[in-house]
Amino acid sequence: MTLQEIGASLAGSQGEADTPAKQHLMQIRDLDIHFRSDDGGLARVVDGATLTVGRNEIVGIAGESGSGKTTLVEAILQIVRFPNRETHGQVLFSTRAGKQVDLMQASDREMQRLRLDEISYIPQGSMNSLNPVVRVGDQIVDGMVAHGTNARQAKRRVTELLDRVGLEPKVARLYPHELSGGMKQRVIIAIAISMEPSLIIADEPTTALDVNVQRRIIEMLARLRDEMKVSIVMVSHDMAVHAQLVDRVAIMYAGQIIETGAVRPIVRTPMHPYTFGLMAAIPSIDKPRTRLDGIRGSTPSPRNWPAGCRFHNRCPNAMPICTSVPPLLAPVTPGVRQTVSGEIEVHSGREVACHLYEESTPDDARVGEGAR
Ligand SMILES: Nc1ncnc2c1ncn2[C@@H]1O[C@H](COP(=O)(O)OP(=O)(O)OP(=O)(O)O)[C@@H](O)[C@H]1O
Ligand code: SF4
Ligand SMILES: [Mg+2]
Repeated sequence: MTLQEIGASLAGSQGEADTPAKQHLMQIRDLDIHFRSDDGGLARVVDGATLTVGRNEIVGIAGESGSGKTTLVEAILQIVRFPNRETHGQVLFSTRAGKQVDLMQASDREMQRLRLDEISYIPQGSMNSLNPVVRVGDQIVDGMVAHGTNARQAKRRVTELLDRVGLEPKVARLYPHELSGGMKQRVIIAIAISMEPSLIIADEPTTALDVNVQRRIIEMLARLRDEMKVSIVMVSHDMAVHAQLVDRVAIMYAGQIIETGAVRPIVRTPMHPYTFGLMAAIPSIDKPRTRLDGIRGSTPSPRNWPAGCRFHNRCPNAMPICTSVPPLLAPVTPGVRQTVSGEIEVHSGREVACHLYEESTPDDARVGEGAR
């Protein structure tokens, strides 16, 4: 699909402006996730991430491999992949009881309760984590029992859960090797929704599936959002997935969020040069798929990010200021603007971190604007 095809497929699905202000379910505020290595070096894998997720909203996190997407969502859930982690910032989550909890400060017990009852996580690659020697129905029951449901009640819900994800009751009696990739992913999603969470965080749930299966999973997730009034954080490196599913998207590059806003304007008229390149990398029917043919070079290391804008050594629009002054992720003033996508009308709710837009340049660096 080309950028234009995706833009056209979005016609009428969402407005140009940001989605109407929704009550916040989760607010990530200035979150850093750094790892200290034995030699004393610091890998700044996620830096200053700020993002909100509304109730009943689907928010996408996009960016190429190594940009920090998985590290960000694992930190939200306090899943520690490596022990030497240093975090700063807040993740404020509104519980069903109406309490606001900072997940970064929550006790192990509170986190365990939230992971059981309110936040479901579908880890990257979890489709392959189903137990090969246990029937699908029993795995769904085991999931619910582990979350505190009694076994008899859990068994009664298997058919209903399979139905919700578009699988027939007979699938309960099958073993994982008898299922296609798409069916396995539906089973994983059935387990994820079994406790009726208010938030599902899904890390690359459609990767490795063919395009048609991918589309059906996306349609199912959209239906679940409407039926269950659940919020979803969708992590994917694939902009075509975001274009088809999410309300708002956050683009990550080198551990930072560099552009956010309603998905339709971002897909149609990206403002950040990296987003522009990411959109150019969307495979077209008439050209072979390449990873990121819109962007030269490769992602730098989190142990040694470039100074200034972390994208400057790959950016076709780089200016002298970009090599020394980090641009701020700032709301773009609405109006007709000159952008990397040409002259466009920018609506509210768009944020970008790039010196091409004066809002991103810190006040003290604007004095020397001749540097631009
Ligand atoms: N403990 C650690 N120490 C040093 N570097 C780390 C550590 N954990 C992750 N990284 C690095 O952080 C970067 C981001 O990793 P992460 O898995 O979050 O990326 P991602 O955006 O999810 O990528 P993908 O699309 O491949 O899943 C990678 O370069 C990874 O090597
Ligand atoms: S700040 Fe400069 S280097 Fe970074 S994306 Fe914008 S123009 Fe390119
Ligand atoms: Mg990942």
